[in-house]
Amino acid sequence: MIDLSNIKPFASGGNRNCYINPNNANTCIKVTKKEILEKIKKDKVWYKKFRSNESFDDNLREQLAYKQKAITSPIDNSIWDHLAKWNGMVNTSLGPASETELIKNDDEIAETLENYLFREGLTDEIKLAINSFEIWLRKHHILTKNIIPHNIVLKKIDGTITLKIIDGLGCSSFIPLPKHSKYFAKRYVERRISLMWSRINWDLTGRKGDWK
Ligand SMILES: Nc1ncnc2c1ncn2[C@@H]1O[C@H](COP(=O)(O)OP(=O)(O)OP(=O)(O)O)[C@@H](O)[C@H]1O
Ligand SMILES: [Mg+2]
Repeated sequence: MIDLSNIKPFASGGNRNCYINPNNANTCIKVTKKEILEKIKKDKVWYKKFRSNESFDDNLREQLAYKQKAITSPIDNSIWDHLAKWNGMVNTSLGPASETELIKNDDEIAETLENYLFREGLTDEIKLAINSFEIWLRKHHILTKNIIPHNIVLKKIDGTITLKIIDGLGCSSFIPLPKHSKYFAKRYVERRISLMWSRINWDLTGRKGDWK
């Protein structure tokens, strides 16, 4: 069991607290927040009825999402070019958690795309990085929920920025046709790319109105 009792999370999202693994500084341990788990328990009946995404533990969603065909039967090794590796579920003093590759630049934890965009704006180097990321999404038909800049971090490889998804894999369509059909997967990925740009532009223009 991994003891997290004396460790502070290095980051925290809407659903999970993220810790550096005390036994391996290259991995990240994500624990679903207590209040979120309580909400899930309360909504369980509704989840069973409607399979609502909100009432689904993010760690469980991620575990299933890493089992998608694009990842389990990849076209080639480039599947990992823009994706944090998933090591599986682990037991911690705070309950079950997911363990993933911690994306770092030297010894610093990688910053999010959101952070970068707020600070630097849409620079040429980040446009290039987003472009390579899009090519990869289209090549592998990787199924993601909406791609939000705080779920992507920036890894510098030979001085070039490479985007890495650290959260948000999965399929957000109610009827999961993209999981079973290449045609629907292609359409689904195009829609995610277009919504990613809506979200980026919304972030860059002061978040007015509905980003979609
Ligand atoms: N593998 C990783 N490498 C580097 N930083 C990470 C990694 N995983 C998470 N982070 C940092 O922790 C933050 C929260 O993690 P994550 O997005 O997994 O939590 P979440 O609660 O599921 O998010 P959301 O609010 O999108 O539901 C990220 O925005 C990022 O800054
Ligand atoms: Mg997140």
